[in-house]
Amino acid sequence: MTTKDKGLSTSRRQFLTGAAAAGAGAVAATAAKAAGPDPLITELQDWASSTGAGVDATPYGLPIEFESDVVRRNVEWLTADTISSINFTPIHALDGTITPQGCAFERHHSGAIELKKEDYRLMINGLVDTPLVFSYEDLERFPRENRVYFCECAANTGMEWAGAQLNGAQFTHGMIHNMEYSGVSLRTLLNEAGVKPEGKWIFVEGADASSNGRSIPLEKAMDDVLVAFKANGEALRMEHGYPVRLVVPGWEGNMWIKWLRRIEVTEIAVESREETSKYTDTMEDGTSRKWTWEMDAKSIVTSPSPQMPIKHGHGPLVITGLAWSGRGAITGVDVTIDGGKTWTKARLAAPGQDKALTRFYLDIDWNGEEMFLQSRARDATGYVQPTKDQLREVRGLNSIYHNNCIQTWWVKSDGEAENVEIS
Ligand code: MTE
Ligand code: CO
Repeated sequence: MTTKDKGLSTSRRQFLTGAAAAGAGAVAATAAKAAGPDPLITELQDWASSTGAGVDATPYGLPIEFESDVVRRNVEWLTADTISSINFTPIHALDGTITPQGCAFERHHSGAIELKKEDYRLMINGLVDTPLVFSYEDLERFPRENRVYFCECAANTGMEWAGAQLNGAQFTHGMIHNMEYSGVSLRTLLNEAGVKPEGKWIFVEGADASSNGRSIPLEKAMDDVLVAFKANGEALRMEHGYPVRLVVPGWEGNMWIKWLRRIEVTEIAVESREETSKYTDTMEDGTSRKWTWEMDAKSIVTSPSPQMPIKHGHGPLVITGLAWSGRGAITGVDVTIDGGKTWTKARLAAPGQDKALTRFYLDIDWNGEEMFLQSRARDATGYVQPTKDQLREVRGLNSIYHNNCIQTWWVKSDGEAENVEIS
């Protein structure tokens, strides 16, 4: 079941020409049905017989009702309590790389809070020359930057360590979103306060009840961290930290403090709950990995997948997915349809961007046989995404966080897909 590009494009061309000659839809089955004239073409439709909605109908537009299944979803047994909880981005149904805020996953430790801009304050204190408090308006007057980054919860794919469990890319890999942030470089604000030479870390907190405090080494804080107030051009949504959140490119989502309230410059790390009892991984020998900040290179085929079965039968098939790395840009993605025996280089929709999602495609001519579909990402450091067995060999089975293994979808000949493991 290997695929060769040249053969593919020839058969694709023949196929599409054949369908056009049949005079109807793009697939043989439709062409056979459409023996008579197609009323969708030959008859005047309702939507063309009267006027549509006026420009005043939707001051702020929502997705059309026909797309109402493209929404965040929970996993019931994970969400007994919806306050301290998680939902998942419908990555299976999206294309491109930017995640709309309206369906981007949420993770709250004590619920999403409503905090007005007028009530917003950001304090910088600790080992600084001048402790400072900024209002929202103050932040708006510093030089601004625009950058696109992914945010992945460290627990993404965490339910899959012991075996294939959740049936859908949304559930196995949907604790991720990718947005264009506008904000101020944290470096600018720290320099405004003046970091003392003893300052080696910052401790960042949110205004919510959990506060979600995390320590970040000063080196990272002075590098590419943003204090962001816009995402995808508009104000942050409440659930993503309105009015201001921290953006910590490439590092685990837990460090992306929402409703950012305070930044304390410290000499040593605070070692808070979120970086000791949580967000550490227990190894086989009982010791724990800590300070596992960077998200390793990872990828996932979003379609076909369990929530996106193939409905059009054999012939041209667009395989697509997402790849990302917390260590820089994605340089390549390989796809296999035979469980890793043979790999084909996927086409990147655009060259990989630093710590942002990359969309890939592989256009094949599906012969209708079952596939064991996988993708494998490579990043700018040369790191290659590991198989599940390779990862388990190093990490054992006690982890929750940082599972970046290769995912397998078993696509059956009827086009339905299932989450499976192969070794
Ligand atoms: N910040 C605060 N203040 N409170 C929180 O509960 N959750 C963290 C992080 N920042 C959290 C927080 C976790 S675990 C993740 S994965 C990301 O926010 C999720 O960001 P999102 O809800 O915008 O997707
Ligand atoms: Co998280």
